[in-house]
Amino acid sequence: MARFPITRTTTPKQKPADDSLAFGRVLTDHMFLMDYTEGEGWHSPRILPYGPLSLDPATTVLHYGQAIFDGLKAFRGADDKVRLFRADRHAERFNRSAKLMCMPELPVDVIRQSFDALVGLEADWVPRKRGTSLYLRPTIIATDVMLGVHPAHSYLYFLILSPVGSYYKEGVKPVRILATDSHVRAVKGGTGEAKTAANYAQSLAGQRDAEAAGYTQVLYLDGVHRKYLDEVGTMNIMVKIGDEVITPPLAGTILDGVTRASALELMRDWGLKVTERPITIDEVMQAGRDGTLKEMWGTGTAAVVSPVGTLGYKGEDVLINGGQTGELTQKLYDAITAIQYGRSNDPHGWTSLVPAVD
Ligand code: COI
Repeated sequence: MARFPITRTTTPKQKPADDSLAFGRVLTDHMFLMDYTEGEGWHSPRILPYGPLSLDPATTVLHYGQAIFDGLKAFRGADDKVRLFRADRHAERFNRSAKLMCMPELPVDVIRQSFDALVGLEADWVPRKRGTSLYLRPTIIATDVMLGVHPAHSYLYFLILSPVGSYYKEGVKPVRILATDSHVRAVKGGTGEAKTAANYAQSLAGQRDAEAAGYTQVLYLDGVHRKYLDEVGTMNIMVKIGDEVITPPLAGTILDGVTRASALELMRDWGLKVTERPITIDEVMQAGRDGTLKEMWGTGTAAVVSPVGTLGYKGEDVLINGGQTGELTQKLYDAITAIQYGRSNDPHGWTSLVPAVD
C-alpha cells in the first residue's frame, strides 16, 4: 500500500460509546487531503489532524456549489477485521459524479489507497456494536478564488470519517414517507445522478415540509409528469407488488445506489422477479389500497435497507404490511449486513479487508 505523509494529532478525541452513535455527528482524529492544480494534476496527498479548512470567502465552491461527495462504510466483523463494502464501486461512482460536475477525476487506485490509509490509521474508531460502522465521506470541492461562474482550475480532495449508528431516529423500524408533487429533486439533463451538494440543498424544503406533516422523508416524483417514482434523496426506493419487486430505472435523475445494485443482485440470485421500470405513484397507492403492495423499502449506504411502514400522498396514507417490516425487506437487510460484517460468504467479492497501519 502507498504510504502517505502523516502528521499525527497530539490531542486525540475521546471516542463515543457505540450505544450513543447517531449519524455523522462525531468525526475522527485525522483527515486525508490532496490538491489538484491545472497542469500539475493531483498532488500532495497527506494525512493531517482533523480540523477546519481555511477558505477564502470568494472560493467558488462556496458560491456555485461545485462539489461532489460519496459515502461508504467500514465494518468491524466478529473476527475483529475491518472491511470496506464495495469500495471500488463507490470510487467509480465518485468519478462519474466528478465528470458530471466538470471536475477532474481521481485514479480509482488512489481513491482506494486514501480509504485504506485513513481507515487503517483510524481503525480503533470502527465501532463494534451490531448496526454501527465507520462512515467514509470522500469529497472534492472547487477551490478557485473568483466570482465568475466557470469550472474551477484547482480542487481539494478530502476524506473524513465518522463512526455512525442508524441514519433514522427510528433505527431499523419502518419509516413514514411522503410522496410529493410540489417539490422536485431532479430532471433529466440535470445533476440528479451525481452525488453533488446541490441535490441535497434542493431537497431541504421538501424535507422540512414532510417533517412538519409528520413524515420522516420525501419520496420525489419525476420532474416532468410528476407521477413516476424517482428516489427519496437519501435512498433509492423499491416496492413489492404481488410477487414482483419494482424499482425505478437509472435514467439520469436518480442516484446509482450501491446498496440498490447490491439488493437487485441478491434478489436476482434468489430467483425473484425483479423489474427496473418507471412506476407511477397512482399504481403504488392503488396497490396499497387493494392490498397487493406487500412491501416497500429504501436502500442506501446510510439507510442500509429501510422499511417503509406508511406511504402518504395527497392527504391519504396507506399502511404497508400493517406498518411492520416485511419478510423480504428483513431478508435483504440480514443478507447485506451479514456480508458487510463478514458473517457470511461474500460470493460477489463485495468486501475488502483494510490493512492495519502502524
Ligand atoms: C449515503 O447513503 O451515503 C448518503 O449519502 C445519504 C445521505 C446521508 C446524504
